[in-house]
Amino acid sequence: QNTHRIAVLAGDGIGKEVMPEGLRALKAAAKKFDLDLHFDEFDFASCDYYARHGEMMPQDWKDRVGGHDAIFFGAVGWPDTVPDHISLWGSLLQFRREFDQYVNLRPVKLMPGVPCPLAGREPGDIDFLVVRENTEGEYSSIGGKMYAGTEREIVIQETVMSRQGIDRILAFAFDVAQSRPRKKLTSATKSNGISITMPYWDERVAEMSKTRPDVSVDQYHIDILTAHFVLNPDRFDVVVGSNLFGDILSDLGPACTGTIGIAPSANLNPPKNFPSLFEPVHGSAPDIAGQGIANPVGQIWAGAMMLDHLGHSDAASAMTDAIEGVLADETLRTKDLGGPLGTEECGKAIAAAI
Ligand code: NAD
Ligand code: IPM
Ligand code: MN
Repeated sequence: QNTHRIAVLAGDGIGKEVMPEGLRALKAAAKKFDLDLHFDEFDFASCDYYARHGEMMPQDWKDRVGGHDAIFFGAVGWPDTVPDHISLWGSLLQFRREFDQYVNLRPVKLMPGVPCPLAGREPGDIDFLVVRENTEGEYSSIGGKMYAGTEREIVIQETVMSRQGIDRILAFAFDVAQSRPRKKLTSATKSNGISITMPYWDERVAEMSKTRPDVSVDQYHIDILTAHFVLNPDRFDVVVGSNLFGDILSDLGPACTGTIGIAPSANLNPPKNFPSLFEPVHGSAPDIAGQGIANPVGQIWAGAMMLDHLGHSDAASAMTDAIEGVLADETLRTKDLGGPLGTEECGKAIAAAI
């Protein structure tokens, strides 16, 4: 199957700057591998759309993007005009939930030639996957405010962990670990302090590990785990965590490889009942938006993950090879990696390398 319809939502800020480079690279890969990619661009899931319509997305958004083979997403958020919880709960988090994208797969890799902020680390030392639970956990809308406006004011937000929800993300993580040479899985927990949900998470890990004796499993409390990301990143192969822990680890990991600007994210619905969504890990970066200096690699790498998901691993590898080649050349990097190029020039160099 070489023909695919892809929904494109660039979003806000640098999302609008890195998206054209993601599309440029995808078009280069499509040409080389004879793929027929149709891109349908949508202006919703952005704070500009909110300014015009008073909501982040139209009522029929699910029908408008649900029939596509995949969703290619930029970044959402413009906190000066729309509060972040409104813009993100009105867009990205709806996609993850409504399309049951329960896996958020986030590779972390130190690329050859890229200066590592951690002293003495070589590329092979940092090469792991963060597998983040993406539909429940700490990201729950159950809760509320009581005694509002009084001194007794209380806010409560429940963490929801279901057996099915934990088991399906763990099964995915174990499968991925099993498919890798080191077959090693690290579970992020906090069962010393979070005394109900986290011990339950650990229990499910222990249960599943009985059925996968070839995968070696360890677990760390999230606090010391962040320390080991910095001090001993070579320990990790596949790291699985709850929604919030996975979020934190997937900014920290890429920061240890030089910049969060290169990190991609695949929001997967493994049964393929709904489209999966591919985006960079980073946000809309209001601090650098409009300057044309954002690193486009996270968006382009997300495009590679999308082609892999659509069954084109050869085209995906051509894209990641091109990324590696360009990042290895210090004259072809963007400012966040100390290089001289802008977003567009860097994107063009990667497309040319493909
Ligand atoms: P951010 O990721 O947007 O930026 C954090 C820092 O990293 C900034 O200094 C930024 O300049 C830098 N940075 C990010 N991407 C970069 C790139 N490609 N190249 C170079 N530098 C880059 O995180 P934030 O500042 O916490 O959030 C800004 C907005 O984005 C908020 O509205 C937030 O809610 C939203 N956000 C959206 C997503 C998403 O759509 N998936 C993810 C994270 C944050
Ligand atoms: C991410 C982002 C989102 C998250 C925000 C913007 C809601 O940080 O994709 O990592 O927390 O999942
Ligand atoms: Mn995040």
